[in-house]
Amino acid sequence: RTVRIIGVPMDLGADRRGVDMGPSAIRYGGLARELNEAGVEAVDTGDLSIPRAEERDPDATQPMAGKAKFFREVEETTRDLTETVADTLEAGETPLTLGGDHSIAIGSMVGSARDADVGVVWLDAHGDYNTPSTSPSGNVHGMPLAAALGVGDFEGVDWANAEGLREENVAIVGLRALDEAERAAIRDSDVTAYTMSDLDEHGVTTVVEEALSVATDGTDGVHVSLDLDWLDPKTAPGVGTPVRGGATYREAHSALETIADSDAVRSVDVVEVNPILDEHNETAELAAELAASAFGKRILR
Ligand code: ARG
Ligand code: MN
Ligand code: MN
Ligand code: MN
Repeated sequence: RTVRIIGVPMDLGADRRGVDMGPSAIRYGGLARELNEAGVEAVDTGDLSIPRAEERDPDATQPMAGKAKFFREVEETTRDLTETVADTLEAGETPLTLGGDHSIAIGSMVGSARDADVGVVWLDAHGDYNTPSTSPSGNVHGMPLAAALGVGDFEGVDWANAEGLREENVAIVGLRALDEAERAAIRDSDVTAYTMSDLDEHGVTTVVEEALSVATDGTDGVHVSLDLDWLDPKTAPGVGTPVRGGATYREAHSALETIADSDAVRSVDVVEVNPILDEHNETAELAAELAASAFGKRILR
């Protein structure tokens, strides 16, 4: 298959600056080489253009209720990425979107689920299920799942709401940090959430296979969204919102290999790499490696 790399140097959805350098760091970390080793053809679109924070007012536009910083800029970027991802799929290629903060996943999900029914496997320490009304931080990178599912304030927001995506086909894996209202919202939803305890109890292969059966049930393919803070911060220190107790290096590779084996991968995000906080680019290199695992890289093939 042909994988199209789409850089989205967006950091307006997060408090800590630096994730805008993620796409460069992941490319520099060997992404093209890794993808070639996975046996796919890699083409690179370059980066989408993102508004500069210094030239914008975070509070210029607010959603109807609650708080969401740089809401208008997130909308602009989402619309742009939605088109890019949908066009890529239409051309028969597989979009690999490099973040940037996790708010960009709104565009990749809306684009991926525009002309197809899509499931999601969300690898993350966080639920990213806040809305402007529930978010304690106002950071949109804590809201993309709720946005794409049209939850709460996002109901009827035309640029959010992924058309071919249903809660029943969303599985979060590796959860270990939730805000209070977010926890209640996930419990009340039809989203399936696997915590780190589930990984401890059942092992990564079983949990990821279950997540895949949730995401493939009645769908045309799976969108995989990998937030590098899913991994333990000792293994992936270059992230803005680290939470200890995350997936190990081997669990992470194993998970993405299991995902590749499903042959259901339709689109992929790799997000939240923060080179300013990283150690010798190791988190970016790991991001590149894990992307290759998601596309089937193996020692023997
Ligand atoms: N739950 C917190 C918030 O909403 C943290 C979200 C972190 N999200 C992420 N994609 N790293 O602000
Ligand atoms: Mn996270
Ligand atoms: Mn259990
Ligand atoms: Mn996230």
